[in-house]
Amino acid sequence: MQSKAKYRKDYKTPDFTVTDIFLDFQLDPNHTVVTAISKFQRLNHESTTLRLDGHSFQFASIKFNGEDFTAYKQDGEGLTLDLSAQSADQFELEIVTNLVPATNTTLQGLYQSGEGICTQCEAEGFRQITYFLDRPDVLARYSVRITADKSRYPFLLSNGNRIASGELDNDYHWVEWQDPFPKPSYLFALVAGDFDLLKDSFTTKSGRQVALELYVDRGNLDRADWAMHSLKKSMKWDEERFGLEYDLDIYMIVAVDFFNMGAMENKGLNVFNSKFVLANPQTATDDDYLSIESVIGHEYFHNWTGNRVTCRDWFQLSLKEGLTVFRDQEFSSDSGSRAVNRINNVKLLRTAQFAEDASPMAHPIRPEKVMEMNNFYTMTVYEKGAEVIRMMHTLLGEKGFQAGMKLYIAENDGKAATCENFVSAMERASGVDLTQFRRWYSQSGTPELSISDSYDEKMHRYQLMVSQMTPPTADQMDKANLHIPLKIALYDQNGMPQMLVNNGEVVNDVLNVTQREQLFEFHDIKTRPVPALLCDFSAPVKLDYDYTTEQLITLLKYAKNEFVRWDAMQMLFSQELRRNLNLYQEEQPFEFSQEILTALAYVLAHYQQNIELTTLILTLPKETEFAETFKIIDPEGIFVVRDFMQRHIAASLKEQLLDVYNQIRLTEYRINTQDIALRGLRNVCLQYLAFTETGNMLVNKHYLYANNMTDSLSALNAAVKAQLMCRDNLLRDFEEKWHQDGLVMDKWFALQATRPDPNVLDIVQQLMTHPSFNFNNPNRLRALVGSFINQNPRAFHTIDGSGYRFLTDVLLKLNDSNPQVAARLIEPLIRFGRYDGQRQTLMKRALERLNEIENLSKDLFEKIEKALNS
Ligand code: TRP
Ligand code: ZN
Repeated sequence: MQSKAKYRKDYKTPDFTVTDIFLDFQLDPNHTVVTAISKFQRLNHESTTLRLDGHSFQFASIKFNGEDFTAYKQDGEGLTLDLSAQSADQFELEIVTNLVPATNTTLQGLYQSGEGICTQCEAEGFRQITYFLDRPDVLARYSVRITADKSRYPFLLSNGNRIASGELDNDYHWVEWQDPFPKPSYLFALVAGDFDLLKDSFTTKSGRQVALELYVDRGNLDRADWAMHSLKKSMKWDEERFGLEYDLDIYMIVAVDFFNMGAMENKGLNVFNSKFVLANPQTATDDDYLSIESVIGHEYFHNWTGNRVTCRDWFQLSLKEGLTVFRDQEFSSDSGSRAVNRINNVKLLRTAQFAEDASPMAHPIRPEKVMEMNNFYTMTVYEKGAEVIRMMHTLLGEKGFQAGMKLYIAENDGKAATCENFVSAMERASGVDLTQFRRWYSQSGTPELSISDSYDEKMHRYQLMVSQMTPPTADQMDKANLHIPLKIALYDQNGMPQMLVNNGEVVNDVLNVTQREQLFEFHDIKTRPVPALLCDFSAPVKLDYDYTTEQLITLLKYAKNEFVRWDAMQMLFSQELRRNLNLYQEEQPFEFSQEILTALAYVLAHYQQNIELTTLILTLPKETEFAETFKIIDPEGIFVVRDFMQRHIAASLKEQLLDVYNQIRLTEYRINTQDIALRGLRNVCLQYLAFTETGNMLVNKHYLYANNMTDSLSALNAAVKAQLMCRDNLLRDFEEKWHQDGLVMDKWFALQATRPDPNVLDIVQQLMTHPSFNFNNPNRLRALVGSFINQNPRAFHTIDGSGYRFLTDVLLKLNDSNPQVAARLIEPLIRFGRYDGQRQTLMKRALERLNEIENLSKDLFEKIEKALNS
């Protein structure tokens, strides 16, 4: 039944290419007619068969150089043309297809979103529009003509420049677009609809005037300013930091409500999930503002890293995604706090990406084998991919890295490139040997660094013994040694970093770990140091060093590096959790270290020195963050112990928490680094205080006086997590206020789904019939179902299997309507290897139930098969 997997090693240059394509759309939600006229060129003169990709439409006709053509075979995935009777190397095909956007719930290809119509072509959605060479190394010049009902679709958009338009009878109109830059089909876009339009402009450093247009649903203009501001900021930043300038006269962004992912970088016409565009103080939290800025940046940065230089094949996806994530991370770090950004990225990597490495879906950042490409838009390709770029940045330095970027762009502009092209440019521009480093592209899994040390008091000599090992992963048994940049610092007891000296010479704080075992030696170290290892998370690895509580507290209190301080607290929390989990399993009473409490009190007392860092240090890791530090996860135990830790910290520090809470006074809502930091700290205090006697009163008041979504939601969250008396009232109030607003209701759905209540599954099932819920909207699904299965592990993994059955029922339905989203939601189920035998059996049974259905999508099939064979 299923189509076969594709392998990276099988890449072949195409036998044919398309140089130009003209697309005519007669748009109608129930019957769209697409005429595609393409100029083909034969590249391999021996080739007499032309294979075109295409499915999920009604094929109407094909002409070869204007003549009827019948020498083809059609199958479920494409069209094979027999060209043995055709000798010309250049020819034109005219293909007509019929589409029904209104019933396309897959949200790939051409589909209806709300009242509008739009496209999503990455990775292989263009083939749902017409038969084509739907591969990223076929770059063509596009012109597009769209005809539609003018009152329903006053705006008709596509890539590039608007070159003509006109009126027709019956209130129809048409617009023609031309994109001067050749591009692969995955970057094609079309949008039609009625919108409110926010216009602005940007002058590039070379003086080009760029029209900026932001399209949002009618009535949403008051939520568009921040995205526009972020776009201008991104354009400026890319000029200043990377020397890269925008290349068209117009840049358009459209916000749509129905979207499978975050956003899409289509040339000159980005399509965004409205979640990453719309914001005002009443509807969006501080975190929403920051993620909008980062996604707007990400898509904009793709214009060079993705569009001007694109990917040769989909195995190279990390070439554009890893690099563009690195760029958006740098953008956020340059605009706000570098340490805070780093910490948040590391949290994500250590939980979600490490979990992926430990799962049946483990793969290198450049996968070797793919069945459904949509399954490889992963934490590994994106986030670990960005870490690999960051390591090169660490090894080369900013100057070397920018020289490499310049060479990479110069050599590959207008081309479809590979990861190797990138590394090679970096290497040649900097002179740094990246031979061994390249293994990061082909090796999957999370490397483990085991470090021990010794100090010779007489010789004033300090040694670090470093060994590396990457455990086997589901996809790859044997692992080689990697080139791991290990950034360190040696602190004395007062927290002063000591000079790193070897034989009288100052050495770099980034050690090059390249062998299985290595010894690093430092001289003139006056007292036994406390080592800070893997500073700033200089490589995506696990660290094993036997820290004492005392050492960690020293780092927490005194280290100069903010990341090191935060990381020390993470290890302290982890130690406490582990210790109490053992006590829990032995049915002994819990304990919490007084020293750690005192250290936390110290941090809180000095909050004014670093507000954001204080917030991050104080924030108790989520259950999922704790879970990732275990081979076998006990979801119930982690919940119970974490709950104890939360209540214990709250009870012990309540006066101080309340003091800080009361000291922070913000009246007017402003979105700037300082105010975000203050709200963040005040709200983390509130989360603890909710568990104290005054919790109900405080939280209720906090909600009542809130003049922005950050504070409202924080109060609501505290009420839900601490199960306060005011909870039901506040939830009802929020629902009454926002029930018509899907994006805001997502916050409410997510809160409901993460309730600690024992009957949370009943509540979630009830909410699937809530009038604000819509099964076909991925944002709603992720908010309600996604939060339940991913953010409420204790409930999802209930030992009676009810959580698994619930998810299976959802997936059975979603398999038909939206396989791409189904394959994302199945993730927690395929990770059964991390749980006890009883849960494993239940989870496997759920997967087998899915495996039996007849029309299983290849998205789900690929993951289920991997899981059941692992
Ligand atoms: N290229 C997009 C990005 O990273 C990702 C994306 C958006 C996507 N929509 C998609 C990938 C649909 C696959 C399918 O910004
Ligand atoms: Zn991207």
